[in-house]
Amino acid sequence: MPIIIKNAEDIAKMRVAGRLASEVLDYITPYVQPGVTTEELDRLCHDYMVNQQGCIPAPLNYAPEGHAPYPKSICTSVNQVICHGVPNDKALKKGDIVNLDITVIKDGYHGDTSRTFLVGEVTPQAKRLVRVTHECLWIGIDQVKPGAHLGDIGAAIQKYAEACGYSVVQEFCGHGIGRGFHEEPQVLHYGRAGTGVELQPGMIFTIEPMINAGKRHLKILNDGWTVVTKDRSLSAQWEHTLLVTETGCEVLTLSEGTPARPGRE
Ligand code: MF3
Ligand code: CO
Ligand code: CO
Repeated sequence: MPIIIKNAEDIAKMRVAGRLASEVLDYITPYVQPGVTTEELDRLCHDYMVNQQGCIPAPLNYAPEGHAPYPKSICTSVNQVICHGVPNDKALKKGDIVNLDITVIKDGYHGDTSRTFLVGEVTPQAKRLVRVTHECLWIGIDQVKPGAHLGDIGAAIQKYAEACGYSVVQEFCGHGIGRGFHEEPQVLHYGRAGTGVELQPGMIFTIEPMINAGKRHLKILNDGWTVVTKDRSLSAQWEHTLLVTETGCEVLTLSEGTPARPGRE
């Protein structure tokens, strides 16, 4: 399957879908507090997407080959969960970190974005992991321009994450996105500068680094979805959907509540 270069009409629709996905995160932010269950967050987001935005929650019943259909409308990945955490009836508690990953479909096009939230007061170590992971996303975005290579993104992210003492998850990656949820190319968050596909205007893909406080290795729980760190260390993730433009890139998943870039430590 080739990389689909988006035309002006595709891009206009991807801008709408991207903003809507980010607005779901804005909407849910005040609810992310100690005592709330991830199932409640799922229900609130589901109802907002469907009833307020007229969107389809892309994860619900999503069934890539070899997977059981995903049972919920968002992913909620708490503490040692790397990604694809399935909402359940367990309450968040003070000191947790939780990634909420939202993908909407609007008018046939996908917008995909995630943020990691601090639940009440968290340890300085957890806060640092979340901040460094957010900066990793933006360091990846800094690389995106025509003529750059996909490997530039991964190399820049890996360099910063490892300099901070963390590891980069290798089994999951960013992806092309459009009418399809997961299109080509795969966007690795590690690698070597100058390698891989050359970027060109009209490409749309996500960058979504998963960074572990401990080792990079993972296991998948028996539900077939939940991905956790093998050493049970904390893991964080942030995600944006990007368009390659003539001069650089445009972040499609911005909204009023998008947190500011943290900056390097
Ligand atoms: N939103 C995730 C991503 O960034 C994919 C979730 S697939 C699901 O690619 F089925 F788990 F929802
Ligand atoms: Co996502
Ligand atoms: Co994604």
